Amino acid sequence: MFSRITGTGSYLPKKVLTNQDLERMVETSHDWIFSRTGISQRHIAADDESTSDLALHASRRAIEAAGIDPQQIDLIIVGTTTPDQVFPSTACLLQNKLGIRSGGPAFDIQAVCSGFVYALSTADQFIRSGQSKCALIVGAETMSRIVDWTDRNTCVLFGDGAGAVILQASETEGIISTHLHADGAYKDLLSVDGGGCGVKREGDPRVIMDGSGVFKFAVGVLDSIVEETLSANNMQKSDIDWLVPHQANIRIIQATAKKLGLPMERVVLTVERHGNTSAASIPLALDTAVREGKIKPGETLLMEGVGGGFTWGSALVRW
Ligand code: ACO
Repeated sequence: MFSRITGTGSYLPKKVLTNQDLERMVETSHDWIFSRTGISQRHIAADDESTSDLALHASRRAIEAAGIDPQQIDLIIVGTTTPDQVFPSTACLLQNKLGIRSGGPAFDIQAVCSGFVYALSTADQFIRSGQSKCALIVGAETMSRIVDWTDRNTCVLFGDGAGAVILQASETEGIISTHLHADGAYKDLLSVDGGGCGVKREGDPRVIMDGSGVFKFAVGVLDSIVEETLSANNMQKSDIDWLVPHQANIRIIQATAKKLGLPMERVVLTVERHGNTSAASIPLALDTAVREGKIKPGETLLMEGVGGGFTWGSALVRW
């Protein structure tokens, strides 16, 4: 038994925050941001929009694209580092908003920017083992709520959004393999100060980052996960048709494309318009490429992501 992606969907909040808008908020410039990150704008959730709302819009589009009834969904996994509440999970809130009653398991995965790849891999195991037949996997984030809007080192990087896929049991191969890793020794390179309940702290949670440390770490582990994924499947670089990377930074993406020998036309890029939407970035990029008609049946996609923890992972997918 294999699992196949049968529908994709995504959602971006209406409000757009451009680099020019940021010039009026912190000491920065469009040129600085764009030349170092490739980002020129990002979307920001409205005050009354929550992570589960963004997830709901993206999920409805994926459900429609797959042509299924929501009641068929027997597993929901949401990758998010910005859940609506400590509990219930965003996945349970989403299940309720979708009107699914007495359904299968619904839970969140916290792997920050690797959250979608972690969630996809977990759902793939559920389907391969016969425990689920039709899974909804979502990456959804409201990063704007944990960004320190006075810190130019971090506030220029992130955006809000959601992406979703329907993963169904199939006799033909879809997800070829997934590869996940973590190393908590690098926890201080990128973290959020507060926001959890296990430690007593004052003040609002805020993202803290060692930018150049993150950059070097990300390029190194993405390099090795490309090797690991190809060799696990006896594949060559030339077997990859599309790279669908986590959209953190154009320079990190270019380094991975170079490693694969892939021209940038074969890399799905949304970082310029979306910024870094953490767990939402890969499914947002995937849905954008699918709806633009770029990805054709039978093509091979490599998804990869790296995020706080540190966590990193890949998924090799036959479309
Ligand atoms: N505008 C203007 N100047 C800025 C800004 C800004 N928004 N942010 C930082 N600076 C300044 C710093 O204060 C520093 O000034 P100083 O030298 O006077 O101290 C200087 O710019 C640093 O400049 P560079 O060293 O040239 O910066 P660098 O080329 O390292 O780029 C960046 C910084 C973009 C953060 C880079 O390190 C990076 O992309 N890192 C990866 C970060 C990332 O992707 N994080 C996302 C989360 S992790 C993930 O998703 C993989």
